Amino acid sequence: MNPLNHVAIIMDGNGRWGLKNKNSRNAGHREGLNTVEKIIKETIKNKIKFLTLYAFSTENWKRPKKEIQFLFNLLESFLKDKIEDLNKQKIRLKIIGKKNFSTKLNSLLIKSEKKTFRNKRLQINLALNYGSKTELINAFKELRDNKEKINEKNLNKYLETRNLPDPDFLIRTGNTNRLSNFLLWQLAYSEIFFEKKLWPDFNEKDYNKIIKKYKSIKRNFGNI
Ligand code: FPP
Repeated sequence: MNPLNHVAIIMDGNGRWGLKNKNSRNAGHREGLNTVEKIIKETIKNKIKFLTLYAFSTENWKRPKKEIQFLFNLLESFLKDKIEDLNKQKIRLKIIGKKNFSTKLNSLLIKSEKKTFRNKRLQINLALNYGSKTELINAFKELRDNKEKINEKNLNKYLETRNLPDPDFLIRTGNTNRLSNFLLWQLAYSEIFFEKKLWPDFNEKDYNKIIKKYKSIKRNFGNI
């Protein structure tokens, strides 16, 4: 059985779900947040140590201002309501991506990271304003500026995911088969599961089915 330490998820399909069911994309984002909570619980039950969630990409800035504002408000109230509880459950929250939001949101993110810094049960990496190409370019610039040898070990030191194992598998919901600039380096050998369901419809049963499938796959890493 394959060991399982790190799950990465592209939570796609909120907008479509919202339009279809409530005639509002934002309603889909709100519903998507319920799925996030369900999946966090199930991740803990499965004793998985790292969960990386793609919440806002560098490309998502192209969306209408109102939708962007709704997403950030949702995140803000989520953190205000839940950070105590996450902390009690020994969950660490880490943001990956550049924190260039409002001063208020930036400081709430930093406060949440600091509060949960020591927790070891589960680390949630929330990718916000994250883009893999920018991450890689910045890492190569660091290597150049510090005159370090270019190799995997040194590059890893400058990635947002430094000190984390690579994801064992990636789930992308929403019936779209692409990586959308997410963890391009880190996913090099990960198993990938494209799921037809939209993120708000994805549930514990679907998640556990994927975990079971992953555990049974023969992973060769280039060997035979
Ligand atoms: C992609 O669906 C989803 C996002 C860009 C945002 C993800 C946000 C959440 C799951 C809820 C909020 C989470 C936190 C932690 C506050 P989409 O809008 O691209 O869907 P579409 O492809 O149907 O348009």
